Amino acid sequence: MAQTGHDFIERNVGWMIVLTLLVVSFGGLAEIVPLFFQKSTTTPVAGLKPYDAVRLVGRDVYIREGCYNCHSQMIRPFRAETERYGHFSVAGEYVYDHPFQWGSKRTGPDLARVGGRYSDEWHRVHLINPRDVVPESNMPAFPWLDRPARSDDIEAKMQALRRVGVPYSDEDVKGARKALEGKSEMDALIAYLQGMGTALKQVK
Ligand code: HEC
Repeated sequence: MAQTGHDFIERNVGWMIVLTLLVVSFGGLAEIVPLFFQKSTTTPVAGLKPYDAVRLVGRDVYIREGCYNCHSQMIRPFRAETERYGHFSVAGEYVYDHPFQWGSKRTGPDLARVGGRYSDEWHRVHLINPRDVVPESNMPAFPWLDRPARSDDIEAKMQALRRVGVPYSDEDVKGARKALEGKSEMDALIAYLQGMGTALKQVK
């Protein structure tokens, strides 16, 4: 029987590799590239504001302390999740997140809509020692967050975010250091948590 094109590819591993890579890259591009232009992934949901200086610093504390190792920020559109956490997450909620904190590990609950669920004081007690409010909790304590929030690099941080599309105004950048005056890392982290997922909450 004459050798078909397929025979040739299966018998020549070099070609097989090259053609496989070509097909996979094309498939990948076809899936990924449209997302950069699609309205639903690039337009912020109504009411979404860029993180103010305090929340931005709180977000950095969240990343530094590795909260994402146990907490996701992505509610999937399944009944079990929406009944527990609230409205499923939509892409337009994350357009100012660089990098996003979706995560995939849920040792603790998803935090995408934790904003407003507890008082600031609850968070303070919980972060200093989770067992004080949730006796069976295995979340680590973070008692060292009472130190001053870092503010010396806040302008540079906001300017960098502006470069990737976060619409900070000159006033936002100029007022950032003042907004952080007297704030502890704990204050900043709690402000970040309290804002989480609240833009969409109003739409519900
Ligand atoms: C080793 C895993 C782990 C790490 C790291 C961790 N947590 Fe948790 N977290 C948990 C667990 C488990 C719970 C559920 C028990 C509880 O409420 O304490 C929880 C609960 C919470 C809750 C309450 C959520 C709800 O809906 O009731 C918040 C808020 C929270 N964590 C914030 C944080 C923050 C902020 C950090 C980082 C500073 C962090 N966690 C780090 C495991 C973790």
